[in-house]
Amino acid sequence: MGFPVIRMRRLRKNENLRRMVRETTLSVDNLIYPLFVTFGKGIKDEIGSMPGTARFSIDMLSKEIKEVKGLGIPAVILFGIPEKKDDVGSEAYNPNGIVQRAIKEIKSIAPDLIVITDVCIDEYTSHGHCGIVKGNEILNDPTLELLSKMALTHVKAGADMVAPSDMMDGRVGAIRKGLDEKNFTDIPIMSYAAKYASAFYGPFRDACDSSPKFGDRKSYQMDPGNSDEAIREVALDIEEGADIIMVKPAMAFLDIVRRVKDEFNIPVAAYNVSGEYSMVKAAAEKGWIDGEKIMMEILLNIKRAGADMILTYFAKDAAKILNR
Ligand code: PBG
Repeated sequence: MGFPVIRMRRLRKNENLRRMVRETTLSVDNLIYPLFVTFGKGIKDEIGSMPGTARFSIDMLSKEIKEVKGLGIPAVILFGIPEKKDDVGSEAYNPNGIVQRAIKEIKSIAPDLIVITDVCIDEYTSHGHCGIVKGNEILNDPTLELLSKMALTHVKAGADMVAPSDMMDGRVGAIRKGLDEKNFTDIPIMSYAAKYASAFYGPFRDACDSSPKFGDRKSYQMDPGNSDEAIREVALDIEEGADIIMVKPAMAFLDIVRRVKDEFNIPVAAYNVSGEYSMVKAAAEKGWIDGEKIMMEILLNIKRAGADMILTYFAKDAAKILNR
């Protein structure tokens, strides 16, 4: 049976009907807000290529955190910009480092806001790579120990969840073991399991000054041509103890989000990364698109593709609209 008995437009007639049959809705509950913390005092340094975001020194976090909490956003994820970088990323696992201090500050302002930390040494290494470097090689196994140490200092400082983004093999297992040995058995791991080597990270690397000083990240981050491989990555991370699985970037990789959601019974996160954000902001500034509508459409589409949660620089803007 088909037309004219069937008319798909019957249920699109007005907004109330459309509301009744809408399959996917976006909620503030789904949003995670990334925050950049930097050394120094009195700093709220707008990030040029990411309008609306800033690097905050710890003493300037209070207003931002209260706003995030007031908007009902359940969680933030922290990235640190340290004062000193060296070839082993020492500041990444300094118990008194930038992120470790920021966690304590945020917990004193908003104890129930979920604080997630990015676990990766690239913001802390002078060469900008996510692992220990020997010659032109990024070493896997020696990096695991540093990541495990880094995660432990975050959790000791009060982090609620850790999110390894380095793409070394075995890091989820190493971090889980390190946490369990210190009795942090109840701290979840959100694994950047399918993280692709992507040019969409460009503005973020400007924000953190974390571009690799030689070569690229293709020997550890995934090849954008691959999809089956993402399923293997995810399966391994789940086996190693990951509690939430992330796909990154989001927009150009929604097929991966859907495959992961279909194949595994585990919460899925998608990272709507810096380049995806900047493109929308830039086009909206030029008056070429309706920035607000595009933002809401993108976030809804990421959710429809299968993401339970979305890490996004749009979190505050979207929450304001969702709370209207
Ligand atoms: C690594 C990390 C990166 C991002 C999140 N964690 C950069 C990279 O892998 O080069 C990118 C996030 C974004 O682009 O918004 N610490």
